[in-house]
Amino acid sequence: MFPHERVMIRRGPESGLPIIVAVHSTARGPAIGGCRLKPYPDWRDGLADALRLSAAMTDKCALAGLPHGGGKTVVVVPSDGSWSRPAALHDVGATIAELGGSYATGPDVGTGPADMAVIAERTEHVFCRPDRSGDSSPATALGTVAALRALCEHRFGSPDLSRRSFAILGLGRVGGAIARLLDGSRLIVSDLDESRRVPGAQWTSPEKCLQADVDVLVPAALGGLLTAATVATLRCSAVAGPANNQLDHDDTATLLHDRGILFVPDAVVGAGGIIHATGIELRGRTPTEALADVEAIADTAGRLLRAAAAEGVPPAVVARRTARPQESRTRSIAARERRVSRR
Ligand code: PHE
Repeated sequence: MFPHERVMIRRGPESGLPIIVAVHSTARGPAIGGCRLKPYPDWRDGLADALRLSAAMTDKCALAGLPHGGGKTVVVVPSDGSWSRPAALHDVGATIAELGGSYATGPDVGTGPADMAVIAERTEHVFCRPDRSGDSSPATALGTVAALRALCEHRFGSPDLSRRSFAILGLGRVGGAIARLLDGSRLIVSDLDESRRVPGAQWTSPEKCLQADVDVLVPAALGGLLTAATVATLRCSAVAGPANNQLDHDDTATLLHDRGILFVPDAVVGAGGIIHATGIELRGRTPTEALADVEAIADTAGRLLRAAAAEGVPPAVVARRTARPQESRTRSIAARERRVSRR
């Protein structure tokens, strides 16, 4: 079965760039998911990313208990900078307008609140404008730290983060904010951009950061970094970060589990931004209430970790089952039918 409800791909009339909007699901409510502006080797790689990322947003919304489904926008931009940002954003806005409210976007890799205001010149369906809920990264960082507290309580018997060591991979808007929130802890940090050094933290290369001997690795850059090859080299006890789609493949969760590394799925850890933005813009939450909603990620993460431990399975397995009960039911029926037909 084709898993996505709707995927739009077009050459943007203003920008000439590939504009890709993937709506994975509206079963729980209108789809939401950020707008990513990024170079890819080929537009098809951008499409593959949009398909994966939009499905991950469905899980993220479901696990956060939000009445939304998952979507994502990807604009494949030339790496030499020869493109117009306003034109690309207008094309995004016009494409989203055609979806009539079944999908709304927000900031993501390569975009921020100012870009959302440009998209809003073409559609109402955009979160995080500077005059609305604004930058979502502080909330994403806060939610990540809440998840880290739940993780440390579960794994080390105390939610006190100052006693722990962390390796933060990626110091963009979210990763940088996490580093500031963790300034009482032992930190190893890295980013491709050397100007993002953090005072008081040990700076290292991305490769060394990934393999750092720390309590928790915190991936806060691009996805796909946990593969069969990299998992074999990890020296941390746990992994929990806001980067979307950290596992290259669902089965990699089992490799982590077999190595005794506790992996908290990014769909739980990274939900702070959408909880905050939709709370303020759609549900009338005050800023204080919205931040309390974000802190509740600690409860969600704690429950997930306890349920997974009780069953002896990776938390990612429980998370997927919780987020897509329909799918796992279909899978178990299919498995039973296979068993029956083999008899
Ligand atoms: N980048 C955000 C995420 O992946 C997308 C987003 C933020 C969407 C805020 C809507 C509002 O969760």
